[in-house]
Amino acid sequence: MAKTEQSEPRLLLLQQHEGNDSRVVKRSFLSSKFSTFERKHCDKASTSTKQHEHRVALLGFEIATLLGVSDLSRSLVLLAGMFHDTGKRYVKDPSIFLKNGKLSPADREIIEPHAQHSQDIILKELQHPFAPRIALIAGQHHELLDGTGYPNKCVGSEIDPRARIITAVDIFDALTNNRPYRQALSYRKALTIIHRDSGTKLDKDVVGALTTLVHNKQGRTHLNVQTRNHSFPFRTLAFH
Ligand SMILES: [Fe+2]
Repeated sequence: MAKTEQSEPRLLLLQQHEGNDSRVVKRSFLSSKFSTFERKHCDKASTSTKQHEHRVALLGFEIATLLGVSDLSRSLVLLAGMFHDTGKRYVKDPSIFLKNGKLSPADREIIEPHAQHSQDIILKELQHPFAPRIALIAGQHHELLDGTGYPNKCVGSEIDPRARIITAVDIFDALTNNRPYRQALSYRKALTIIHRDSGTKLDKDVVGALTTLVHNKQGRTHLNVQTRNHSFPFRTLAFH
């Protein structure tokens, strides 16, 4: 496929991002297979999707770093973040993603398969030993701990801990960016909404790390949220 102007800068930006450990990130992208997949993905994804994925990847990587996960897991979070919505290319009416208000059952039927599509596309098209793990994380990015997510209504430990990072960041990014039907919420408001689901739908350690990061970055939120010391299940769960 022809090289596009849109694809390379995304990888480059990731590599140059100040907050990243460049050694880890560069190693993640050493394989040209990622570049090939990236170009293909960028040719098919909308600009807003690409920008959203980019932000989710970077913030997810920072959360994983704060939680003290292995270099491999940090890289997997980063890569899954970069491609988690690639399945949107198969959604027949993408305008539904921008719909205001509660989604109807018919809308959900159209939207929800995109997570499974992402998993399938990554598995099929990314020719790399990491592909099954990246695909799983991407496929679970709308699963919620209480089983009310999609596509498989996974519960608790059925959800990969790295996917839980993408889930929380995905929601945070959606809330803090403009939509056609509303202005972006402030970080403080977004965190307040996210904290309502902490420990029930969202992993509380991930929410804690997200809160810490946002506080550190902005210094202008006023939530009084205690983040506990992150000895975190990441250290005890198998990541392979
Ligand atoms: Fe999604």
